[in-house]
Amino acid sequence: MKNPSKRTLQLITKAKKYYLPIYKQREAIFDHGKGARIWDIDGNDYIDFGSGIAVNGLGHSDPDLVKTLTAQTKKLWHTSNVFYTEPPILLAETLVKLSGFAKHVFFCNSGAEANEAAIKLARKYAADSGRPLERREIITFTGSFHGRTLTTVTATAQPKYHAGFEPLPPGFVYCPFNDEQALEKLVSDKTCAIMLEPIQGEGGITPAKPGFLNHIRKLCDKYDALMILDEIQCGMGRTGKLFAFHHEPDVKPDIVTLAKGLGGGFPIGAMLAAEKCADTLQFGSHGTTFGGNPMATAVAGAVLKKLNSKTLMRAVEQRGKEMRQALEQINGKFSLFKEIRGKGLMIGAELNQSFQGKAAEITEAARKGSLLILQAGPDVLRIMPPLTVTATEMKEGIKRLNKALATYLET
Ligand SMILES: Cc1ncc(COP(=O)(O)O)c(C=O)c1O
Repeated sequence: MKNPSKRTLQLITKAKKYYLPIYKQREAIFDHGKGARIWDIDGNDYIDFGSGIAVNGLGHSDPDLVKTLTAQTKKLWHTSNVFYTEPPILLAETLVKLSGFAKHVFFCNSGAEANEAAIKLARKYAADSGRPLERREIITFTGSFHGRTLTTVTATAQPKYHAGFEPLPPGFVYCPFNDEQALEKLVSDKTCAIMLEPIQGEGGITPAKPGFLNHIRKLCDKYDALMILDEIQCGMGRTGKLFAFHHEPDVKPDIVTLAKGLGGGFPIGAMLAAEKCADTLQFGSHGTTFGGNPMATAVAGAVLKKLNSKTLMRAVEQRGKEMRQALEQINGKFSLFKEIRGKGLMIGAELNQSFQGKAAEITEAARKGSLLILQAGPDVLRIMPPLTVTATEMKEGIKRLNKALATYLET
């Protein structure tokens, strides 16, 4: 890889001068991409095994998405939600049909907004059922991540995200993830919703154990609480099924939230609601200026058309297996990992004791070796290539990972 050019360094200096310092951005200015490759302005090419953060499911510059977005930009960019446009109507219909549980859809612009809507809906559902304030608790799980707004960050049961933002909104109760006994103790007639990611993303690529979703469904039914699944990271084909909860055919949630992969890189969020609570939020109780924007929903419609393919979902499963095998081989060589886990192309490799806290260092070493991978917390490497990653791109990425790790361990 070339050293950063003068232009790159100048732009980074400007970014540091003008941005709030809330990200630790790497020393490269990305310019364009194709499939699972992305180039910086200095001409370095990277293999992208992060897809943003599980966003570019169809890779960079997918021709069908480009065509759809280009066509829509020439027609209409925006009307207020006082009026109808065609793309969000068609997208809502597709999501309802493909979800297998939802009746109605609300569109917004991000994951946090989708979760915020879900939380509001759950509270309103409880209020409409005549429950007093103290019976509107929402249970979430340790290791979860639900967003950065004040309420979704409170739903996020990780104290590191709360520090300094107190007082936090009340009414959230945290339960150890995958602990059925603890959950049984916490759930009560005060509970109005249980909210979780079927596979925790930011928390370290931790899947709900088999049967956990089913158990939650039963508890929700018992206490008339809503079951909210946050599929913002694990949904949209990432696990080899369009929705992660489809791996457990008996489970029907009440609410599912989506964002990230739904727009393939164009910002969009959505909340899907089952019949039971589909009409809880009525005129005047919620809304957004940009949600359901025709450009975002046209692109998402094109994304779903491509994701709704058995061939693609089989490929995700197959590539996922290959990736896990490659990581096992890497582990055989470098003894880095304690565990390799995940589903489809949502993979986490947890570093062993000797490399604890080194995930950031290793992801940066990979970048310097022209490969983009992510971390999920300080101890887990997170690998989430585009769902359309080709065998050649995979091979090249794995080769770069091997090389980058060898260099990292030498120094
Ligand atoms: C599971 C999950 N929920 C919610 C969010 C928040 O989404 P956004 O950053 O679009 O607000 C994220 C983002 O990483 C996520 O992974």
